[in-house]
Amino acid sequence: MIDSKPWEKKNILVLTGSPRRNGNSDRMADAFIKGALSVGHEVTKFETAKKEIGGCKACKTCWSKGKPCSFRDDFDELAPLLEAADVIVFSTPLYWFGFTAQIKSAIDRMYAYIGKSCKRPLKIKESLLLVCGADDEMKIFDGIIATYKEIAHYMKWEDKGVLAVPKVNEKGDIGATDALVKAEGYGKSLSA
Ligand SMILES: Cc1cc2nc3c(=O)[nH]c(=O)nc-3n(C[C@H](O)[C@H](O)[C@H](O)COP(=O)(O)O)c2cc1C
Repeated sequence: MIDSKPWEKKNILVLTGSPRRNGNSDRMADAFIKGALSVGHEVTKFETAKKEIGGCKACKTCWSKGKPCSFRDDFDELAPLLEAADVIVFSTPLYWFGFTAQIKSAIDRMYAYIGKSCKRPLKIKESLLLVCGADDEMKIFDGIIATYKEIAHYMKWEDKGVLAVPKVNEKGDIGATDALVKAEGYGKSLSA
């Protein structure tokens, strides 16, 4: 008898950070999604840069009005997706050695889910980071990778992978690298 874990269909939430549709990180997200769908997972892509999500105001009134956040904006759309997700994926270009402002605002607003007042704790168990940047040294990613790993550790998410791609700047540059094949592979790998 084969003693292996039964395959589990996962609900994957992919957050993108670039304002450039079909840009380098958007294409990495799509390649990841293609891989994940091909093995039967459910995927929702949420483009933070196409939404209006303000930064956390540190009012500390999370859940006091029945919703995770007391302020109304497109985080209202993101909150139920976060609550339904088993896996979260961040796909972002490197901006100033970190996340873009748009995806960082969405991350900051997840503050509602870490306090004692949280009414609906997240069930996310796993995470990945897909990131690209223009410069050619891998060192440029040290900051964002460290931040991502600390977030994953703090949230008790198992880090399922980091794909960091240097030397891509113009739209389409990612196509000349092996990143799309690797991103698709990460999507498929979540079946394990
Ligand atoms: C505001 C801004 C800040 C950036 N900061 C960095 C950076 O710190 N390091 C880097 O290597 N590239 C940086 N870049 C370049 C982008 O990361 C790069 O062009 C990337 O491929 C864009 O991905 P996208 O097509 O998904 O938007 C920056 C670009 C912009 C517009």
